[in-house]
Amino acid sequence: MELINKAAQIIKNSKHTTVFTGAGISVESGIPPFRGEGGLWEKYDPKLLDLRYFYAYPQESWTVIKEVFYDFFGKAKPNPAHFAIAEMEKTGIVKAVITQNIDNLHQEAGSKNVFEYHGNSKTLVCMECDEKYSVNENLLKKLPPQCKKCGGLLKPDFIFFGEGIPEHAAKMSALEAETADVFIVIGTTGEVMPACMLPYRAKENGATIIEINPSKSSFTESITDIYLPGKAGEILPLL
Ligand code: APR
Repeated sequence: MELINKAAQIIKNSKHTTVFTGAGISVESGIPPFRGEGGLWEKYDPKLLDLRYFYAYPQESWTVIKEVFYDFFGKAKPNPAHFAIAEMEKTGIVKAVITQNIDNLHQEAGSKNVFEYHGNSKTLVCMECDEKYSVNENLLKKLPPQCKKCGGLLKPDFIFFGEGIPEHAAKMSALEAETADVFIVIGTTGEVMPACMLPYRAKENGATIIEINPSKSSFTESITDIYLPGKAGEILPLL
């Protein structure tokens, strides 16, 4: 508890606190992480999110994508961690959230200034004409889903391995890493580039790194200043 108080003091006295989240913050919403026990990459082959495979085998790829990211994830709700962060933004403490997650739960919890470093699963985009659709049942009735305008193949608007980071999110996240004097890192192994470079950038620019994770990550022994071991859904409301 006294570590949490210490972290709370630092955050309260900060000029610009930025939150950086990974899959771990959504585990208590019922969404499995990618790595660690019960991780998605233990059950599914990461080729599922390989752009070339998707393009070559859209039917097979979409069947699994629908099962994992829409049938199963789609019903997940924000948990106390998401709500605590939205609250901290409302009180002017948290200036922005950079998330690697595509589950839209920060926005559903009320966070306004959210940069989605890996895109968002709630939108589909046409690979031919760029038309965007917000995902709903009938769009996914027939797989692979087709663009109503040009008949092109629709793809979830989150990045597949090998795809670039959405431009706006990349720019704004880099700015956050330069500006923040406190960077709260929540629920991420810190293994995936280039997202995992952001906490290092923040540290280089003088930010205090506060980390919340039940297990250690690649940040904990290298750049984390205050490590709060535990679940996001328990620690963030206390914080
Ligand atoms: N609260 C906080 N952290 C948790 C919790 C919890 N309740 N449960 C698990 N964690 C932590 C794990 O200890 C681990 O460090 O969440 C992290 C999950 O790690 P990953 O599954 O690797 O998630 P992430 O770091 O976000 O993955 C980055 O990899 O596959 C790509 O694009 C995908 O965005 C994803 C990226």
